[in-house]
Parts: sequence; structure tokens; C-alpha cells
Amino acid sequence: MIPSVLPTYNRAPLQFVKGEGAWLIEADGRRFLDLGAGIAVNALGHAHPALVQALTDQAQALWHVSNLYEIPQQQALADKLVEHTFADTVFFTNSGTESCELAVKMARKYFHDKGQPEKVEIITFDGSFHGRSSAGIAAAGSEKMTKGFGPLLGGFVHLTFGDLDGVTNAISENTAAIMIEPVQGEGGIRPVPDAELKALRQICDDNGLLLILDEVQCGVGRTGKLFAHEWAGITPDIMMVAKGIGGGFPLGAVLATEEAASGMVAGTHGSTYGGNPLGCAVGCAVIDHVANPEFLAEVNRKSGLLRQKLEGLIAHHPDVFEEVRGSGMMLGIKCKATNIDVVNAGYDNQVITVPAADNVIRLLPPLTLTEDDIAEATSRLDAAAKQVESQLETA
Ligand SMILES: Cc1ncc(COP(=O)(O)O)c(C=O)c1O
Repeated sequence: MIPSVLPTYNRAPLQFVKGEGAWLIEADGRRFLDLGAGIAVNALGHAHPALVQALTDQAQALWHVSNLYEIPQQQALADKLVEHTFADTVFFTNSGTESCELAVKMARKYFHDKGQPEKVEIITFDGSFHGRSSAGIAAAGSEKMTKGFGPLLGGFVHLTFGDLDGVTNAISENTAAIMIEPVQGEGGIRPVPDAELKALRQICDDNGLLLILDEVQCGVGRTGKLFAHEWAGITPDIMMVAKGIGGGFPLGAVLATEEAASGMVAGTHGSTYGGNPLGCAVGCAVIDHVANPEFLAEVNRKSGLLRQKLEGLIAHHPDVFEEVRGSGMMLGIKCKATNIDVVNAGYDNQVITVPAADNVIRLLPPLTLTEDDIAEATSRLDAAAKQVESQLETA
């Protein structure tokens, strides 16, 4: 008999009833160090007092009002994002894949309204992940995500990650945009080198294309800058955001320049819940914290410490771990042992990591991780690695 929850996930037998900072707690009191943060969602950790306050204050005043009316919390969050980023304008969604939907629509509408309706194609890369909507799976294009769901939304050209020559060769009179994650998350924490992001920006400029960055996972302070593309000193035309911006409340956004957004006039897009008062009140509190340069400096300092400890672990466990990659609090450890075995050994030692492609385990902890948490992370991952080593010996 089918379970009452549609069985699309292979769930670990863990059930948390409470969260505190970087810790998740089961009903029996067992505490797990959460280095996954809901897959890069709980940017300020669990039950951060400022977020609890923002949410409860708003809950007591007004939960929902239609986008047919003005929503001051939405206006405030849009103003903050415009102030702190390249963007001139923002549309709020409830998830990353909804942000992908709008990014694709916005790019196509831009060229349609410029009198170039043939420009519909978007170049994407293997290993990418843009969500599970029809546009999201078609954009990523992998068999794993698309098999059985055809006919797929057309207009995506899939290239090899890192193949800049391929990009130049793939551009035709039909090309509208390039869509890329500055750091691939699901793909195994694969950062796009700064020089490559710069080159992609240049290719877009030279060919009149829009650059769409998917910062759903790598944005909102995760890499140590408010948005990951800032490391490369470039700006996109359109950017997809979600996860961390809501700190655990479902919230996403599409940020765009005035030019790129010029086709999106009244009636061209909408969302019942997108930008609702609860989500935007929380989003304001998240951005107030994360956009603070002192907060980001701390993320960089502590992530440096964490990385140093991870390098040490890798040296001690060469049969389990291979290398650490990524930046800020978006780190991947490429494993020699099977990554799922390492994640499971982590559960046994009450530390949570997240598997990714390329035999990687992801560490996406709350940006507020403390030095004590880092010490705990090191000793628990060390214990997990020892457990995997003993499994390897007896195998
Ligand atoms: C880069 C990226 N884009 C899009 C998505 C989809 O976001 P959501 O699951 O909120 O729809 C994800 C989710 O993991 C992601 O990592």
C-alpha cells in the first residue's frame, strides 16, 4: 500500500522535534550537529531569536494578504535586496524552482518584447540543478531528473561544465541566455572559477545575451559574500534566490536589472503566496543579519577554521576522504569511500551531512556555526571516518 506521504524521498530514520542554533534534537533528547541546515536553508541556525521574533510579531498582526494589494513587508525586503545587490527589481516566490520558472519566462519575454522572439534558447551545464518544476528539470536535463516526464519544455542547450569553447560554439541566433550556478550544489560543490564567470559575463555582453545566475543554494552569505558572484566581481542580469533568504520559512526571489525585467509588466506573472507578509518579515530579519559586513567577516573567519580542520581530517583518513572544495560555509568533501556510507556513519555519530553527486558529502552548516560547533564537527566527523575505516577493513 502506498504510504500516506508520497514516497519520493528515501528518508533517514531520524525525527527531530526541536532545533537550537546548529543542533537538531530528537524526542528522546539525542542531539545531532546539523551541518546540512535543511540543505543550505537555516542560514541563521534553528530558532534564531530574531527570526522567531519577526515571525511571531507578524503572525499576531497579519498572515496573508493578496498581491492585489500593497504589502509593506514585501516592499521593505525588495528595497533591502535592491540596496545590497546589482538588482533594480525583485519578484518574490516560495521556492527555488519557482524562481527558475520566472527566470526562464523573464528572459524569453525580454527578447520577445525587443522584437527578437526567435531568441528562446538557454544554455545550461551538466551537473546543474535548478529544481523539480518542468522548467527546472528541462534546464538541468539529466536523465535522472527527466526520465518519464516528457515531453520536456524545449529550448535548453546542455553543455559540459567548464567548457567555455562549447559555450561560444553553441551560441546561435536563437540563444537568449546562459544559466549557471556559481557553485554547483547538488552537482557536488563544484565552484565555477572566477575567471570563467568573468568570461561568461563577457560572452553574454559580446553576444547580447542575458546571464542568469542560480544562487538558490550558494547565495545569502553561504560562500562568505552576500551573493557568490561577488567573488568574481561580476553581476548577472537575472538571479534566482531561495533557501537561505527565508531562514527556514518558504521564500524565494528573482532579482533582475531594470532592462532584463522590462518585459514583465502587469499581468505577465503572479503568485498567490509569493511575497506574503510572514515570509517577507522573516526575510527582512535574515537580510538585516547576513548583509552586515561584520557578520560576513565572521562567516569567512569561521569557515576558514572549519576548512583547516577538514584538511586535517582528510590527511588522517586518506582511505575515506580525498579532498575538500568550495568556499565559506559551502564545503564539499570528495570521498574515497562511498559518500552515502560516510553520511550514514555521520548519523551514527550524531552529525548531519548531505550527499551530493560526484561522491561528495556536503557541509552547509548554519552561517552562525560557533567555534565550539566546529570542534564538535571535527571530532564527530573523525569518529564517523573511523567507523567507515573499520567497515572497509571488515569488508
Ligand atoms: C541551485 C538550486 N536551484 C534550484 C533549487 C530548487 O529549489 P527548491 O527545492 O526550493 O525548489 C535548488 C534546490 O536544491 C538548488 O540547489
